[in-house]
Amino acid sequence: MNAANATAARVDPAVVVAIDGPAASGKSTVSREVARALNWTYVDSGALYRGIAWKALRAGVKPRDAEAVKALLARSRWEFPRRGLAVAFTVDGEDPGEAIRSPDVAESVSDIAALPVVRAFVGEQLRAMRRYAPLVMEGRDIGTVVFPDAEFKFYLDADPEERARRRARDLEAQAGAADVAAVRASLERRDRKDSTRREAPLRAAPDARIMDTTGMSVGEVVARIVAVVRAGVGAA
Ligand code: DC
Repeated sequence: MNAANATAARVDPAVVVAIDGPAASGKSTVSREVARALNWTYVDSGALYRGIAWKALRAGVKPRDAEAVKALLARSRWEFPRRGLAVAFTVDGEDPGEAIRSPDVAESVSDIAALPVVRAFVGEQLRAMRRYAPLVMEGRDIGTVVFPDAEFKFYLDADPEERARRRARDLEAQAGAADVAAVRASLERRDRKDSTRREAPLRAAPDARIMDTTGMSVGEVVARIVAVVRAGVGAA
């Protein structure tokens, strides 16, 4: 048995590590790596909001039309299979894959995520994923709304210029050149919508550990989180 399995065997099976923060704070890479280091299940909650935005765009449903989005959710079938260490989803039997990362989806997802009916739906699905625990779940409101009782809460941030550079680097890897200033403007637009919306705005839980990752490598952030979790689990 390796060290990760030894950790997994000892812990309370319902343990949740909540990792929240703004777009391009490094959350996704860090959360995936933390889950891998602990050998626990990883959940990207933003992917589900993106999946709903993707489905709405394809169905010709306007992302601000709450009634139409509600009807769309009611008539579509969502499934959440585990693939390796990650929880994936299909809608009406289809896996949208990388299509949920398209610029169209990125522009409409904040409006979708601001709808109470969408947040209620996603919250319910995310809470049901405790069946796959121990979990590492990343998002905007995991420590505040979805799992306020999460054993471990982290809030990752980085200064806006650094976040824009990181996101531009990701986009360049996918699609060639990216304009850092334009990327920064788009991130700031999304941050503003996510932090000022009425439902579950982006904010750190009072009991979250806040980490400014500006100038830190992914490896450093992961090592710090894993050390806190291992120490906490060992002490439980
Ligand atoms: O993390 P991301 O960029 O994939 O998130 C996509 C959108 O979903 C983003 O606009 C914020 C929203 N979101 C949310 O409101 N609550 C979450 N727990 C996760 C994402």
